[in-house]
Amino acid sequence: MGDLAGTLSAACGEAFEAIGLDRKWGAVRRSDRPELADFQCNGAMGGAKSAGRVPRDVAAEVAGRLAGHEAIASCEVAGPGFLNIRVTDAVLTARAEAVRSEEMAGAEKALDAERVLIDFGGPNVAKPMHVGHLRSAVIGDTLQRVLKFLGDDTVSDTHLGDWGLQMGHLVTELYDEQPDLIYFDADYTGPYPEEPPVTIDDLGRLYPQASNKAKADPARNERSQLATAELQAGRPGYRALLKHFIDVSVAALKQDYAFLNVSFDMWKGESDVAHLIDAVVEDFRARGLAEEDDGAVIVRVEREGDKKDYPPLMLVNSRGGTGYHTTDLATIKERVEELRPPLDRMLYVVDYGQALHFEQVFRAAGMVGYFPEERLEHIQFGTVNGPDGKRLRTRDGGNFALADLNAMALEEAEKKIIEGGRLPEDMGQDERDAVAAAVALAALRFADLQNTRTTNYVFDLDRFTSFEGKTGPYLLYAAVRIKSLLRRAAEEGHAPGPIRVESDAERALVLALDGFGHALTGTREKRMPHILCEHVYNLAQAFSAFYGAHPIAAEKDAETRASRLGLCEAVLKQLETGLDLLGIRVPERM
Ligand code: ARG
Repeated sequence: MGDLAGTLSAACGEAFEAIGLDRKWGAVRRSDRPELADFQCNGAMGGAKSAGRVPRDVAAEVAGRLAGHEAIASCEVAGPGFLNIRVTDAVLTARAEAVRSEEMAGAEKALDAERVLIDFGGPNVAKPMHVGHLRSAVIGDTLQRVLKFLGDDTVSDTHLGDWGLQMGHLVTELYDEQPDLIYFDADYTGPYPEEPPVTIDDLGRLYPQASNKAKADPARNERSQLATAELQAGRPGYRALLKHFIDVSVAALKQDYAFLNVSFDMWKGESDVAHLIDAVVEDFRARGLAEEDDGAVIVRVEREGDKKDYPPLMLVNSRGGTGYHTTDLATIKERVEELRPPLDRMLYVVDYGQALHFEQVFRAAGMVGYFPEERLEHIQFGTVNGPDGKRLRTRDGGNFALADLNAMALEEAEKKIIEGGRLPEDMGQDERDAVAAAVALAALRFADLQNTRTTNYVFDLDRFTSFEGKTGPYLLYAAVRIKSLLRRAAEEGHAPGPIRVESDAERALVLALDGFGHALTGTREKRMPHILCEHVYNLAQAFSAFYGAHPIAAEKDAETRASRLGLCEAVLKQLETGLDLLGIRVPERM
């Protein structure tokens, strides 16, 4: 069964068509004035204008044709020609039952499902992740969940940064500490030890050490550049080190991502397309798109209307090295060639600071014929700021490691749980830990996702972990409250039964449930998770109002009690589905 806005729009569109106007005027949405109507249609004004007619007359004719529709209790003309529609209790009852019984909790598969690659996460080997990587992880993961749920065939890739100067920094710094390692013997070509020569802590130490030295000393930087070029050219010992660095990093990254409930189908990286770099350069040359420029190879991608000095794309630099542009192009080439079924679209969930990079890469990919430019989308997002409104930094001005953010969130969640005295006395330590982790997860993910993706937000753990307000923990609390209500009712022998929607609070609650599909479609089409957040929050609030307005398990009338418990089941199902799509785990008790 489709949602009510859709059903009513179809009926209304037909009515417009029947009086000789375009069906598009029949678009129906939730009413701005819930006390007056459930839904409204504002199309009579535009429709009348298009035909040189009087809006109120058009509205009245449409209303006349809608009378008697099985979903519609009343349809009234208001003001200059608004249509105010009230739906029947019966159709609301059917909607509630559909949410409770249907697998998708009231939503429906998209009719235009696609094969979509989602490139998100994008951590760099050795460099600690920063809060920008937090955003990419949770936004990208949420999009992958929502798209998959709606029927898209998604495949996700972390796209590790493992091909740039940071690798040269690591190689040279490790050499300075342990020059005798076999990897540095230029005459030796393998085999190399299986055991990595470094731990994740070593990497965390070596990289900043080297990068600080390189900033102060051009000669030190040059050594790293050179090592990077040698690595890229295929020096066996360096390639063997690269593999170790990647393995060690990936093991640590997987832990940070697991904490955030984020997963990837593929853990590929820039270095995985090293073998395609020459072919990419050749593809551009063969089409006459590459230009020699002071020893470098560039592609001019500027267009009419661009700002002056729009920079060219760099395929090969004057040292013969290749960077971010080239690996991204090679990755597109590889994805197109290797992935089956073939891709319809690629999404890149990366901060807006990289807008120019992606614009250049997408243009070049289109020009060379790898993939249509308009099917490459940069899903940009804003920055995470500190209380001072500037990019969030540690006290000494560095980037926050994601692992530290996770740990801070966990600590704050534990504090809130203890302060609130929320957990049942009999709960063991393992379950307490799991609840704290769920609260931290809900706090971090919801705080991020509820913002319009493109805006910046202020990182405030105290607020994020609060059980009050528009927060992840509030939503967990709402879901857990329904679980325990249903559990207690069952213990008293009260089972949920057929739903009957009657009171205002019940109607409002079911109207909220009805918006799920629309919220998901909006999230998918605009790539905007805050739309789903908004829905889930509104649903929790509508449930709160319902809970405040009526006895549920304590209701005396058996049928009404069973109906209200049934409604609780429907709400819980959709709430849990929605939270799961946001990557939030709901504990059994709290
Ligand atoms: N590693 C990059 C960074 O930290 C992000 C990678 C995004 N994905 C891509 N295909 N370029 O900035």
